Amino acid sequence: MTKTLDEMFPSEIVASLDKYIIGQAEAKKMIAIAIRNRTRRNKLDDQMREEVTPKNILMIGPTGVGKTEIARRIAKLANAPFIKVEATKYTEVGYVGRDVESMVKDLMASAVTMVSDEMARLKEADVNRAVDERLLDLLLPQVKKEAGSESVQSSDDSTREQFREMLHKGVFEDKTVEMVVSPASRVEIGVMGSGNSMDEIQEAMNNIGSIFQKPRKRRMTIHRAREILREEETGKAVDKEKVVEEAKARTEQMGIIFIDEIDKIAGGNSASRGEVSREGVQRDILPIVEGTRVNTKWGVVDTTNILFIASGAFSFSKPSDLIPELQGRFPIRVELDALTSDDFYRILTEPENALTKQYAALLATEDVTLDFTDDGLRRIAETAYRVNSDTDNIGARRLHTVMEKLLEDVSFKAEEYAGSTVTIDGAYVDQKLGDIASSQDVSRYIL
Ligand SMILES: Nc1ncnc2c1ncn2[C@@H]1O[C@H](COP(=O)(O)OP(=O)(O)OP(=O)(O)O)[C@@H](O)[C@H]1O
Ligand SMILES: [Mg+2]
Repeated sequence: MTKTLDEMFPSEIVASLDKYIIGQAEAKKMIAIAIRNRTRRNKLDDQMREEVTPKNILMIGPTGVGKTEIARRIAKLANAPFIKVEATKYTEVGYVGRDVESMVKDLMASAVTMVSDEMARLKEADVNRAVDERLLDLLLPQVKKEAGSESVQSSDDSTREQFREMLHKGVFEDKTVEMVVSPASRVEIGVMGSGNSMDEIQEAMNNIGSIFQKPRKRRMTIHRAREILREEETGKAVDKEKVVEEAKARTEQMGIIFIDEIDKIAGGNSASRGEVSREGVQRDILPIVEGTRVNTKWGVVDTTNILFIASGAFSFSKPSDLIPELQGRFPIRVELDALTSDDFYRILTEPENALTKQYAALLATEDVTLDFTDDGLRRIAETAYRVNSDTDNIGARRLHTVMEKLLEDVSFKAEEYAGSTVTIDGAYVDQKLGDIASSQDVSRYIL
């Protein structure tokens, strides 16, 4: 089993980020330390623990150098409740849009899903057994009816065992049975109507709708019936109160909220042109970061120990344009480096999801083999870097546009290349991109 985020040492967190993100060692390190400090804090005695509050992080760096990517990868390491939100999607209380408290509700919601999944997994064997019994109850009478009552006796234990074996072998998967399906078979965790945001009202309305639907008899395959029964039995097996209790504890003690694009709500000169006041949003965010109690449909969540990681390019504003109270709440600042041509070369090849691997896999489905030579890769990296410096620097995003253009012909006429190998070397890159990249005006539009 892989380690969960709260068990990982900082070096291990960094190592798993290294699989996807090139460079940015400082940022990875600071985040890894902050995450580990939560685990350390949890081991302190109550009195000391009260004193230790998370040190929130502000990541600053040019566009396209991996800020959001780091957040996405942390999210995948999972186990600690984590959500990523965009600062720009919030509005002040009273305006149409999402108010900032919804980020805490979303975090809690993700924790509830996470914990109930975990608990369901623990009960999986029990659930499967119960589902098998119910499927057999559906199957046996039906087969008996079809075979003309005498030949198969559903009361007969050995028949049932025989059927169980066949069921496990998948013999009945496509057989249709009749089953009563209650519309509320999707068991909702939580109490209705304690929240007040538009989202929750909407959800409550949907739930009300399903109350008025009657249970119905439906014909379906055993395969489909198993899915429905599994959901029902899981709902019964998992203790909802325990889920909520554990989810709340994890949210409060281990939760991480990543606020992306925070620079977009920083003051700047052009604030308040009749639009929603950015400063207003900052003022709304402040208490949540400082520690407050937010009402969710699972109860009150205390935000004091939630770790906040904010990030922004700050190309049109500075961290000091944020209101002072908020600045003070993000004491750890990390700057991400602009990417070099060398970084581009590594980004093209090293990450587990590297672009060259993606394209090679895509074209392999059409029986085309892409062979990137080393000097080909260097040329791609250099071209991307040059276009970035000649026009706008959009960081590693440039690699996407460059690769797309480079492989346009092969992608379009893949069938003509089927069964063959296309070698992408320096000459190929120059042939496809040379003219475009050397003209600023052209590359501004195409790359
Ligand atoms: N250091 C890196 N290592 C690997 N891939 C990277 C790196 N930096 C950027 N990328 C790639 O570039 C894309 C854009 O990066 P990302 O979304 O992280 O930019 P950002 O720093 O959040 O920029 P912005 O300030 O514009 O939001 C990512 O999807 C990823 O594929
Ligand atoms: Mg980003």
